Amino acid sequence: MTETIDSGRPLSPMIAPSILSADFARLGDEIAAIEGADWVHVDVMDAHFVPNLTLGLPVVESLLAATDIPLDCHLMIDNPGRWAPGYAEAGAYNVTIHAEATDDPIAVAKNIRAAGARAGLSVKPGTPIEPYLEILRHFDTLLVMSVEPGFGGQSFIPDVLGKARIVRDLVDAGELQVLVEIDGGINADTIEQAAAAGVECFVAGSAVYNTDDPAEAVRKLRARAAAIAG
Ligand code: DX5
Ligand code: ZN
Repeated sequence: MTETIDSGRPLSPMIAPSILSADFARLGDEIAAIEGADWVHVDVMDAHFVPNLTLGLPVVESLLAATDIPLDCHLMIDNPGRWAPGYAEAGAYNVTIHAEATDDPIAVAKNIRAAGARAGLSVKPGTPIEPYLEILRHFDTLLVMSVEPGFGGQSFIPDVLGKARIVRDLVDAGELQVLVEIDGGINADTIEQAAAAGVECFVAGSAVYNTDDPAEAVRKLRARAAAIAG
């Protein structure tokens, strides 16, 4: 289906499988296995901002050549101002940085957009959203972390849903234009409460890849979210 966000609100809930839970030796095949997903969520970790190390721009460039599904790059890295524009220049569809990782998120967002991608802002579970509401107009997506960033397979933290609700209400009131995305612990049991809080795009790693049929898992998650009015 591959929704894009350029024309406003998504028509149906978006599912962005995280390849963090895929087989890294077979990433091309693993992306082919999620046909119908809206975005591919790519977790970039630097072992500094988070205590884990994954992949960087060379791998993202190879993934861009291997799939037509838009890449949603989640940069869990220090100094995103130095690195984020490169992902946009390479062709990533959405490039998300962490609010906690930079003193000048607006400048980074401008550089990401100037390089041709949408810009995302992510907040860790313990980071309040209020200080960032003003700057969200410089961003296209808000990624609400519902686990501590760093690892897949953790339990969903429902307390973060208030942040999604605040931002989605501002969007619905016409005061902001940002896609509300959530990441961490999303599965068939948790996706409905996130949808009810106004989330429009759902990252899911283990709930998609730790199944026999990842494409079917994507369809089922989307259907569960679609059944809930956010
Ligand atoms: C965690 C990553 C997530 C992770 C989600 O830091 O940002 O994208 O892959 O994995 P699940 O869906 O298993 O919680
Ligand atoms: Zn992520």
